[in-house]
Amino acid sequence: MSHRSPTTEPTEPTEPADLQPIADPASIAPTMPAAVARRYGTADVVAIEDVPTPQAGKGQVLIQVEASSLNALDWHFLTGTPYFLRLIAGLRRPKRTIHGADVAGTVVAVGAAVTSLHIGDRVFGESAGGGCAPYLATKAEYLVPIPEGVSFHAAGATPVAAITALQGLRTHSGTRPGDHVLINGAAGGVGTFAVQIAKALGAEVTAVCSTRNVDMVRRLGADHVVDYTTDDFVPGGTRFDVMLDNVGNRSAADCISVLRPAGRYVAVSGPKENRWLGPVGHLVRTRFAFRRTDATFHQFTASSTPEDLMFLGELLASGRVVPEIQRTVGLDGVADALAEIGSGHARAKIVVVPT
Ligand SMILES: NC(=O)c1ccc[n+]([C@@H]2O[C@H](COP(=O)([O-])OP(=O)(O)OC[C@H]3O[C@@H](n4cnc5c(N)ncnc54)[C@H](OP(=O)(O)O)[C@@H]3O)[C@@H](O)[C@H]2O)c1
Repeated sequence: MSHRSPTTEPTEPTEPADLQPIADPASIAPTMPAAVARRYGTADVVAIEDVPTPQAGKGQVLIQVEASSLNALDWHFLTGTPYFLRLIAGLRRPKRTIHGADVAGTVVAVGAAVTSLHIGDRVFGESAGGGCAPYLATKAEYLVPIPEGVSFHAAGATPVAAITALQGLRTHSGTRPGDHVLINGAAGGVGTFAVQIAKALGAEVTAVCSTRNVDMVRRLGADHVVDYTTDDFVPGGTRFDVMLDNVGNRSAADCISVLRPAGRYVAVSGPKENRWLGPVGHLVRTRFAFRRTDATFHQFTASSTPEDLMFLGELLASGRVVPEIQRTVGLDGVADALAEIGSGHARAKIVVVPT
């Protein structure tokens, strides 16, 4: 299962620009370094290359990227797995050659027909990749202003993972004050936002992670932590209103057994063993099992909206959500960061500063 990401824009320019005046034309070189992957593979296909600096076409803005971050989504696009993803990502070769869908930066040029953004605006959002480079041209509609007091690093760490956590909790499970929420996979990008957003929504949170991450998720606000290497949340007897599942490693019977009668199970992810279809079979079986219970099954593909980005911006500005940034890397750290995500045990967010 993957996040629904903008997929229509190439990450390198293919057409001449339709530009209004730019901030400082002399400061923008015709080429730029970027972390590029020209074929499907693992981290070793990522190389730093000089590529043409993109230009803002109609409806687009050119951003000077101050921060991007990497997600499981980037790993799926890098490897082209599950294979059905290639129907949109490119059958033989990836259309998306520069990863980094999360982006935060400054608008330096505005294409035709853009009225919502202006040169000098600080913006963040989700693009069709391209964040692992100093400049990115993307649709203006994908971006919203970064609230005052929020850093580029925090904004760049946020979009994909936090939108997923927010939509899983608020939109799909209807999490409300007083709910007891179980977050399976609390230590990754989605999980570290989910712990904080569930608390901001007024929930009691039980977080599941491995030993090395117990202190971190507790610091993020989890009321209870289950270390899955020594403990198991299933036989404990606690019943939850919501289970947000970022891992998908438990049977349907296990998930049903930990929910209260009208509980809500939200499948963010599923097992990845099947390279053709990914978690599809598991999700179909789980959905079917839930039909025999009063609890409900919810599966979704997160989709960035300006309203949700602005809501998250307010949470960042108020300090109720603080992105947990594990480390910051330059372009030369992108391959290792992607490999870490591919291991399935990335911790919180890795921010890329591409300049
Ligand atoms: N539906 C959607 O639209 C959507 C959107 C975004 C992401 N996703 C999917 O959601 C999943 C999570 O994304 P992410 O960005 O958070 O990934 P991530 O940053 O790579 O984090 C994965 C986390 O899973 C944890 N984990 C691994 N095995 C575990 C286990 N047995 N029990 C509990 N936790 C375990 C790891 O923590 P430990 O190191 O402590 O084990 C790690 O922190 C990915 O599969 C991604 O593809 C779906």
